[in-house]
Parts: sequence; structure tokens; C-alpha cells
Amino acid sequence: MNIQFLEKERIFKIDTEHVSYVMAVMDDEQFLEHVYFGRRVGDSDLRYLLRHRENPYTVSSNGGERGKVLACMHHELPGELTGDHRDGAVTVRTQGGHTVLQPYYVSHRIYKGKDRLEGLPATFGHADDTMTLEITMEDPVLHVRFLLSYSIFGDTDAIMRNMKVINDGGSAVRLEKALSLSLDMDVFDGDQHPFRLLTLDGMWVRERHMNFRDIGYGFQGISSNRGETSHHEQPFLGLVSPNATQHVGEVYGFHLIYSGNFRGQVERDAYDCIRVTLGINPDRFAFTLQPGESFQTPEGVMVYSDAGLGGMTHTFHDLYRNHLIRGVWRDKKRPILINNWEATYFDFDEQKILDIAREAKKWGIEMLVMDDGWFGKRDDDHSGLGDWFVNEKKIKGGLKKLVDEINALGMKFGLWFEPEMISPDSDLYRAHPDWAIRVPDREPCQLRWQYVLDLSRKEVRDRVYEMVSNVLRSANIEYVKWDMNRTLTDFGSTCLGADNQDELCHRYVLGLYEMQDRLTKDFPNLLLENCSGGGARFDPGMLYYSPQIWCSDDTDAVERLMIQEGTSLIYPLSTMGAHVSVVPNHVVGRSTSFETRGNVALAGTFGYELDITKLDDKDKAHIPHQIALYHKYNDLIRRGDYYRIASYRENHLYDCYEVVSKDKTEALITYVQVLKVPEDRSRILRIPGLDPDKEYAVIVDRTGAIAPEDDETMVLPVGPRTQMRGDALMYAGLPMPNFWGDFRSALIYLSEI
Ligand code: DGJ
Repeated sequence: MNIQFLEKERIFKIDTEHVSYVMAVMDDEQFLEHVYFGRRVGDSDLRYLLRHRENPYTVSSNGGERGKVLACMHHELPGELTGDHRDGAVTVRTQGGHTVLQPYYVSHRIYKGKDRLEGLPATFGHADDTMTLEITMEDPVLHVRFLLSYSIFGDTDAIMRNMKVINDGGSAVRLEKALSLSLDMDVFDGDQHPFRLLTLDGMWVRERHMNFRDIGYGFQGISSNRGETSHHEQPFLGLVSPNATQHVGEVYGFHLIYSGNFRGQVERDAYDCIRVTLGINPDRFAFTLQPGESFQTPEGVMVYSDAGLGGMTHTFHDLYRNHLIRGVWRDKKRPILINNWEATYFDFDEQKILDIAREAKKWGIEMLVMDDGWFGKRDDDHSGLGDWFVNEKKIKGGLKKLVDEINALGMKFGLWFEPEMISPDSDLYRAHPDWAIRVPDREPCQLRWQYVLDLSRKEVRDRVYEMVSNVLRSANIEYVKWDMNRTLTDFGSTCLGADNQDELCHRYVLGLYEMQDRLTKDFPNLLLENCSGGGARFDPGMLYYSPQIWCSDDTDAVERLMIQEGTSLIYPLSTMGAHVSVVPNHVVGRSTSFETRGNVALAGTFGYELDITKLDDKDKAHIPHQIALYHKYNDLIRRGDYYRIASYRENHLYDCYEVVSKDKTEALITYVQVLKVPEDRSRILRIPGLDPDKEYAVIVDRTGAIAPEDDETMVLPVGPRTQMRGDALMYAGLPMPNFWGDFRSALIYLSEI
């Protein structure tokens, strides 16, 4: 790892172990140009790569061609340049109403460590193993300064970038766009094939499905204007060489550490250059900067891999596990929980919760989570949000009594909140109708019969936080599920002036971060799980506060294969909230085996979401075995390297993935036969990531509740337990079980002998 400024060439060179990122300061006019981002290269003069070189620009000789030159240059921080008609990364409006902007290089500093981003989640590292390059740029007419910061860590190939905008001028300016990432590069990969665009898209109960598309001329991209990340798009853009596979080929990944409105865009121009940008969505965004004021963008992550999609995945996983997630639970096995949502919905009382807890305890479950409906007047979703006091009609004797009883069983207790919301039918709303986000003279839109609290206001945050923390202090609550069940609409705050209304969405996110920061500081041992109507806030911003996030309200094992495939493309398995629920599944009506539901949930945090008191004995008999599997494999699943072997999304028949320990002494393969095809031979799949020279025991690990006559793995070509060399497994492959029927699965454990 190194960052240097090569004085003679006026080149900045950022090197991680395998990747280089290079920029140059133009000789004549102090433009900061992008030169190269890709596989690591040695220190040499790379200025021959500068795109305008074929038509060199010098003010004295061809100053009249300025616009033409700017149009084909690769800019590091494009403003609104005369001549460059591509979409810029920053827009500043002057009091005169103008937006022309040209940031020039002024100075730089290279230092060990990395500064915190005020009020925002961001990656961090030990000063000894972290380096930052801060480049100061300035528009000399507006006197606005731009601090572009790039940070790297010794143990990962990711490059982080953020920007701070400072108004040094004598009058206010309006910042209308301030994107975190901007990269100009050729659309062609090393084989001269255009990269394809990869995005993670979906909707409620179908989050983060992987989608590929060609990059056409003009704009394409992703966005959220819902005030949160959303079920629909992930703040992620991938550029994938068409020849790339899981294991080889070039892939770029761009991700935003943020939980609000975002926009990610790829613009292809006539020169076949693409400009990749990612940051806060400029729609509904504007910040007035008075003289001396500044604005900090969120952090963006850039990853390059020449080892295919899997290489990119490993970089993101290690980055987030080691440099973003915090707290005592980060590296720990999480308690196996049972959540009462799908078991009871709103229809429960303390006796029902105790019944579930008692039965769950018998089978080895470690924590009871009481979901929505325990507070205020809340027998359905029409009322009660904002009244964070236990409903003693439902929870007779109060919360402490219930928690004590559950603790006395030897179980932990967790609780659901939705702190950002307010029901029109609530005491809080009757007292403070202006606390809801709304515009004057207009009835705000209800979604799930609720409004959103204006978290940009300190008194709102303080009051809600006080109620939530009082509840948490009232009993031994060891886990919180922080939910958020509607998008933001009716963007208006009674506390912001006419010129500041467009600050609301970002201020809302800052308010949310402040509340979660307080929570994690005041309750450092609390296990926090973020959630938003399923997985609408599965983003790296929230991971800074909670080590796990509820992945989706869809707990169907087959749908989960695709949701978890897209999620695990960039997020560590340790972050994915995954539970076993009943069949027919409550969302899709599909019936899969209990064993398969368990095997799929084991790829995440693992837990149950069902009424265990009503489960039949056959299914129940699987639970102790599933729990044993969790205890046996969770360290490996949380810490290991994840490999995607086959994708049901692509082949429509089966799914297979693997986690290999960092030292390659063990691996766990999950194989799901979604649809049976009429053939009587096994699929042979190559098993990546192993040590070719090691000998492995190959153990088919069923849950133990399978009657031998039902266990086809007993007649696997390799048998239920055998011994194989790493190279044979990697290059020749391993036959998978050929099950009778659909939705069947197996875990196959490899252990060095
Ligand atoms: C949405 C969550 O995703 C569910 O798990 C559940 O907590 C409900 N909200 C409760 O309203």
C-alpha cells in the first residue's frame, strides 16, 4: 500500500496490493485529470494515457480549442465545464443564478490514517495501516474549495473517496449537486469488449436481484428519491467485462455508504468514454452554504477486480467486515432468535409470547424477539406509532416482568421499534401534529396508515430517543430490531425556511445517524438489527451502526436464493438477516422442505420466524440439528471467503455456493436442487477456493432428522463421507446429490485431513 505524488510527472499514484489509481495535474491549467484505475502497475510516467494528449491543449497555442479539449478529457472532478457537456459531479449556484464551475488543483497532503466524516458513517482503520490523499481544488472565481479525499487500507484493494465543499467566498452559494464518486474511463475492457452494467434491483419481498444490461449511449443508472435506500435499487453500480465469470475477468464495483436518496449513473459519450457517478441524488437536494460553511458528502467505495465477480465480492466483504462494521457483536456468533411476527402478527399477549419462548427454549433457541404490536394502542397497523410505552392490556404485568420470565427460562429478549414513524391515531401525533413531514395546507400521504417524523428536528429526535431509551432501560433488552415501514413523501419541514426545504432529505438521514449513534454509544452491548419493511435499508450506511440487517420479508427459500445471491455479492454473510418460517410461505405460498429452509437461512444470521407451539413434530425434529449446524458452521460462515458456484437466477434449476476458511482448511458448500429434471445422473460442480495440495474429508451434512430411506445422499457417487484432494475438487469437481423432487438441498462440509 502506498500513496505518492511523483513531482516530475505531477502524478498522484495510489497503490493497494493489487490495484493502482492514478491522476495527473495538467501542466498548463492545473486541471486534475483521471489517468488510470485497474490492475496494479509500477511507477512510470503514465501521462501518455491522458485522453487529450493526441490533441494537446496549451492556452498559448490552441486556447481557442478549449471546449473541444475539455469534452474528451477524463476529469477527476467535473464541475459544469464549458465544452464538457457530460453530467458533472458538482453544481454550485451563485447568487447571480449561474452554475459555471471549474475546480482547479491547488495543493495536496498525504497522511497516515483517515479523518472521520462529520455526522456520517464511513470506513476506518488503524493509522499505521491506512493512508489518505487529500487534494485541494478550488474555483478561483467563486472561491469555493473542494477537498477530495482518497483513502486506502493495507489489507484490502478498495479505494474510498469523499468530498468536502467549503464556501470561502464572501456571499452565500447554493450547492445543488455534490456527488461522492466520479470516474471517467473507456467503456472497453482489455479485450476491447464494452463493459456491461450490473445493478441490484427489486421491490418489496424481491430485493437486490442481479441484473445485467448493455451500456448504451447516453444515460443509464439507478436512483432512490424515497428518502431511504429503498427496496427498488441498491446504491451500487458494477461494470462487468462480458467475458468475466465468477473467477476471472475484469469487474469494477462502486458503492455508496449512505442510507438516503442516491443516484448512480453511467453516461456513455460519442468517444466511448463512460462517466460513472454515484452520490446523493441531486433531485430534492440543495444546501445553502453561507461564507465559511461547508458540506460533507458521504463516502463512496471503488473496487477493481481482475479475478471476476468473486474477486470484487471478497474485497467488499473484507472491507465491510474489517473497516465499516463496529461494536461488540461484529465478530461474534449472534444468538439464534425466534421472532413472533409471522407467528402471530398483532394478535398476541404476554402468555402467547411466553408459550413461544418456552417451547423455543426446549429446542435450543436462544433469544425471543417480540415484534410489532407491544406498545401504545396497536392491535393492527392503523395506530400507536410514536407511543413507545408498553401496552399493559396486552403485556400484563409490564415489560420487565415478561423479560424477567423469559430470562429465567435461560433466553435473551429482543424488542421491535419503529422510531421514525408516527400514526395519525397516536398520542404523540395529537400532541405534535407538526412533527410529521408535510407541506402546509396539504394532507400528507399516508402509507401503512402512518406518517414519517421530521428527524431533521432535534426536539423530535430527542423526544423519540428518550422514549425508546426509557423502554430499553426498563428491562434486560439485549437486541433491538429498528424498523422503518414507509418511504418519505410530502417533503416539507415546518422548521426549514423556503430556501432550505431541499435540505430536508439529507438532514433526515443525518438525524437518523445521530439517533443510531446515540443508541450504540448508550447501549454498547445491544445487538442492533436494522430493517425497513424487509430489506429497503440494506445499505453500508446502516452497517456502520448495526452488524446485521433484515434482508427481506420474503422468507421463502427459493426467492431467498436470489435475494441472498444479490445481497452477498457485496455484503458479508454475517450481515444478512435470515429466518426459517412456515409453509405455505406467507408471501409466495410455496412449500419447501424444513431442511431446505434451514440450509438457506444458515447462509445468514439464522433464526426462526414461526409459531413453534404449532409446528408439527416432524418439522420440529429438524430444529436441534439445524441449531447444531449453526453452532458448528457459523464461525466459518461469518469469517470465510464466499464463492458463488452456480446461480438459480441464471440456470433456473439449482443453486450452489460455498464458504472457505481463510486458511483453506475447511469449506461449507450449500447445494439446492430447486427443480428436479428427469435424469438420473449427478451434476458435477467444480469447487473453487481450496488448497489444491490439501486432502479434504467430504462430509454430506444432513440435519440428522432425515430417515435413511429418504436420504438419497447415501447413494451419492462419492458416498456420504469420502476423502478427496483439493485439486480434484477444484479442477475435476464434486458430484452433487441427485434428489428425488423439488426444493431439496444439502450441506457438504470439506475438512482438511
Ligand atoms: C416489517 C418487517 O420487515 C417485519 O419483519 C415486521 O417487523 C413488520 N415490519 C412489523 O410491522
